[in-house]
Amino acid sequence: MTPTTDPSTLRPLWPDSDARRFHVVDQTLLPHSFVTVAIDTPELAAHAIRTMQVRGAPLIGATAAYGLALAARRDAGDGHLGDWVRELKSTRPTAVKLAWAVDRVATALVGIAPPNRAATAWAEAGRIADEDVAANEAIGDHGAALLRDIHAGHPERPLQVLTHCNAGALATVGWGTALAPVYRAHAAGLPIHVWVDETRPRNQGASLTAWELAHFGVPHTVVVDNAGGHLMQHGRVDVVIVGADRVSVQGDVCNKIGTYLKALAAADNGIPFYAAVPSSTIDRTVANAFADIPIEERSGDEVAWIRGRDSDGRVRDVRLIPDGSPVANPAFDVTPARLVTRIVTERGACAPGELRRLFG
Ligand code: MRU
Repeated sequence: MTPTTDPSTLRPLWPDSDARRFHVVDQTLLPHSFVTVAIDTPELAAHAIRTMQVRGAPLIGATAAYGLALAARRDAGDGHLGDWVRELKSTRPTAVKLAWAVDRVATALVGIAPPNRAATAWAEAGRIADEDVAANEAIGDHGAALLRDIHAGHPERPLQVLTHCNAGALATVGWGTALAPVYRAHAAGLPIHVWVDETRPRNQGASLTAWELAHFGVPHTVVVDNAGGHLMQHGRVDVVIVGADRVSVQGDVCNKIGTYLKALAAADNGIPFYAAVPSSTIDRTVANAFADIPIEERSGDEVAWIRGRDSDGRVRDVRLIPDGSPVANPAFDVTPARLVTRIVTERGACAPGELRRLFG
């Protein structure tokens, strides 16, 4: 693909104007193939989320919202819709945005006569998608201001950012959360370089973040997940910025497994650690983030096998570990608020301790 300087052009989900289907980019095939999938049933929407054709908290929320609208097109009765609310919410447990989006569409249907429900649900899903893009663009502006401030402390060299997983445009309906500030700063001419954690086991950093940054011409380097601490000790990271799947009002940040270790290393080295999130990611019901946030356990096959393109150009899965070795695969962890410097939302940046006053 030809690099373009305009990250607003990357939309991994878009609806058809006839309100009968929407399209997504199949992220399981990136970076080797760019293939889109048409989704015209709630089953396909649920399948896309479960198999991670779509992933990233805001994107699975928008996909589930459109999925519920497709369910309403088939049968707008309360019983059928209630079944699909439960089914879509069960596809992935950790990102609160998924349940939030499903509930928002379901709430929009309260008091609406069944014949009008499909159109109402589709319109609400569209609003959720559009609001996501707008929120992320605002996060980009607020986050870019923080990045400019950090760079002002050493204007003679590029700003060194480290990010974990993929919280870019591919994880949202547009712009991304953690990468939106990077894109805005880069477009404004700030010299910037991104260290991209590969993010085992599914390698969202190596396969998705690197693909995005290359696509938009942002200087970057992929590193193994264990390199971050070393880079920080040697003054090669100025700021860590990540997305999140759920943030408690106490400011604890649940994000892709391994985020906590980056926050620990950042704190040990006096490096700011930012989480960039739309405010819909803040879960006011969580009293104890370590106990109350369900952490998704995914298949051990994601650890035991790895996908890549061989020297003949064929994409293959190869096994990494002995046949008999057991595998555990927790997909997320919680970074306690004390390790988080700022939470960046569409309303601005704040200390984690201020979240309850602002959003509680
Ligand atoms: O398992 P994934 O790929 O859905 O995990 C994604 C992440 O952990 C992202 O950092 C998070 O959803 C924020 S996306 C803007």
